[in-house]
Amino acid sequence: SIELSLRPSTLAQYIGQHKAKENLAIFIEAARLRHEPLDHVLLYGPPGLGKTTMASIIANEMGVQFRTTSGPAIERAGDLAAILSSLEAGDVLFIDEIHRLPRSVEEILYPAMEDFCLDIVIGNGSSARSVRLDLPPFTLVGATTRAGLLTAPLRDRFGVLSRLEFYETNDLCEIVERTATIFEVTIEKQAAVEIARRSRGTPRIANRLLKRVRDISQVRGETEITLETTKEALKMLQVDQSGLDHIDHKLLKGIIDAFQGGPVGLDTLAATIGEESQTIEDVYEPFLLQMGFIQRTPRGRLATAKAYQHLNREVPNS
Ligand code: ADE
Repeated sequence: SIELSLRPSTLAQYIGQHKAKENLAIFIEAARLRHEPLDHVLLYGPPGLGKTTMASIIANEMGVQFRTTSGPAIERAGDLAAILSSLEAGDVLFIDEIHRLPRSVEEILYPAMEDFCLDIVIGNGSSARSVRLDLPPFTLVGATTRAGLLTAPLRDRFGVLSRLEFYETNDLCEIVERTATIFEVTIEKQAAVEIARRSRGTPRIANRLLKRVRDISQVRGETEITLETTKEALKMLQVDQSGLDHIDHKLLKGIIDAFQGGPVGLDTLAATIGEESQTIEDVYEPFLLQMGFIQRTPRGRLATAKAYQHLNREVPNS
């Protein structure tokens, strides 16, 4: 599918995340030279930055199968045991949202990661006994929004911790141009820059905005996506000059108008604006923090002077 073809399949095709790529390239090469599976890798960072893509590239670069599942999909120890015992030597097992694994499942994972074995209990009552099964050596790649969401024993079993960062405008621009090529549309350089600047450092958002801008450009009968159409499309989509959307605005205005700029606790703020606390914390806050529109304090979230200025509000005296 076109969606899948948007994903780069090698490290060389992967744009941005220079530090993560540089480190992974070395660990992959070393593991290959030793004919060993790669150490377990934890990828963490906000949604949409390419954690799943990076995991599939690791498998591809190691020349092994890519198996995927997610924390919430594995409800019982037996579910994970079934997946683990179907792996082949060297395979990459990707567990998305790994922090959401049930505790009983997580405990199966410790000996599997550490010693490549599976401790299972057969039978029940007085006839119950524990047996230890060998597993093929494999690489677990886990993904989560924040490394701190994992329990310490799980986090400690990853040999490689790799944090994905928000992308630079230049890298996002390159991604937009690459995606346009795959879509077989031409786009003015300035239009690609505009989408990149307003994508909150996130390729998933950049590609989504490009799709909508392309729709509008096509309906207008244009042969090339222009800067002018891009600006109008972004206005229609309620994406502001800094890339903030309707919900970012609701959040900032919530802190400023309902709580005099804060501090306000996350749950109180979430209830006030009618969004999930978890979504605010994982999806919206990281970029607002990075941009300096909000601050986190022990007493809650604060809107900064920059937030007031961005919303054309008078900055209160401090
Ligand atoms: N498409 C989405 N993210 C990408 C990336 N990091 N590199 C290349 N193409 C992408």
